[in-house]
Amino acid sequence: MEAALYDPRGGFYATGGAAGRHGDFVTSPEVGPLFGQLVGRALDRWWSDLGRPDPFVVVEAGAGRGALARSVLSGSPASASSLRYLMVERSEALRARHADHLDVVGPAFAFGPPLPDDDDDGPGAATADGPVVVSLSDLPSVDGPVIVLANELLDNLAFRVLERGPDGWLEVRAAAATGNSTAIVELLVPADERLAAYADRLVTDVPVGARIPVQDAAAGWLRRALDTAGRGGRVVLIDYAATSTMLAHRTWTDWLRTYAGHERGGHPFERLGAQDITADVCVDQLARVRPLTTDRTQAEWLTDLGIEELVDEGRRIWTERAHLGDLDAMRARSRITEAEALLDPNGLGAFRVLEWET
Ligand SMILES: C[S@@+](CC[C@H](N)C(=O)[O-])C[C@H]1O[C@@H](n2cnc3c(N)ncnc32)[C@H](O)[C@@H]1O
Repeated sequence: MEAALYDPRGGFYATGGAAGRHGDFVTSPEVGPLFGQLVGRALDRWWSDLGRPDPFVVVEAGAGRGALARSVLSGSPASASSLRYLMVERSEALRARHADHLDVVGPAFAFGPPLPDDDDDGPGAATADGPVVVSLSDLPSVDGPVIVLANELLDNLAFRVLERGPDGWLEVRAAAATGNSTAIVELLVPADERLAAYADRLVTDVPVGARIPVQDAAAGWLRRALDTAGRGGRVVLIDYAATSTMLAHRTWTDWLRTYAGHERGGHPFERLGAQDITADVCVDQLARVRPLTTDRTQAEWLTDLGIEELVDEGRRIWTERAHLGDLDAMRARSRITEAEALLDPNGLGAFRVLEWET
């Protein structure tokens, strides 16, 4: 999975795979600007709770081509002038698109060069007017408190797959098919003791043949993100999520999915590098890293942030301006359909918003 998604020469994300209408799947920021506008409201709340720090550091991990950053900033949040918005994206191809629509500066400029203060206390950090936007390949090491935000990142981090055998846990591995040098087949090997013991702690009483993902890369990433957030910061992860027990009782092809060009793909070993590979994020595995502060649905979170109010405003503008058919009228109408998608209880609305206050 690691190579299929991220190999610099052939990996899905390294060679053009992406979220978006012209990409391979649609995520909340790619539905339209409404999601980013609401994330901007959340940022303003957290900024206020922190006592309106300047700089106010926000790290968006797995930023893709930068759609969320773009709509957060176009919504002109109150915290904008203090904002240091650090986009973190592993794919070089996607990072290259960050400057297409955003004024991106080098990391050295994010916090301004030291400038002489008016008083005699020596040099202080320049408080250049924000927002300042930076594009990075990995989580930064910056002074906290930091807000670390990620939409649909953890479901894309490589996981192991374990299968319950008659005598214990087996690990599902990838192996070259004999006699055919290009095909890859499943190879079941006894899981090592540590892994098997971990699986036993995650799920009990599962039928033979049941499979679960072991999301150790996601857990490791969360540890680093909590560190980056620092004291008083926050990690907020938005994703499709479940528990290990729930997944053990579902058919594995239902929770381990592949996508390409807006269609479900085939077995994850097929068309390596040409399809996305993903799985529901196991909240219980993340909670073992650190217990969550809150876990709610995206619909609940967006409602709390005032999505209904923005939709009502959209309806009013549409009613007043529909006969003009101008850009404002079109934007207002689009806001209504975007909200339906973002709140859909059978789709994006059912995603979980997982928060850790640090
Ligand atoms: C499903 S896409 C989501 C993109 C965007 N957040 C959105 O919602 O449209 C996941 C993104 O995370 C990136 N990614 C994967 N591992 C990463 C890591 N360790 N650090 C930063 N980005 C990563 C991938 O390259 C990909 O662009």
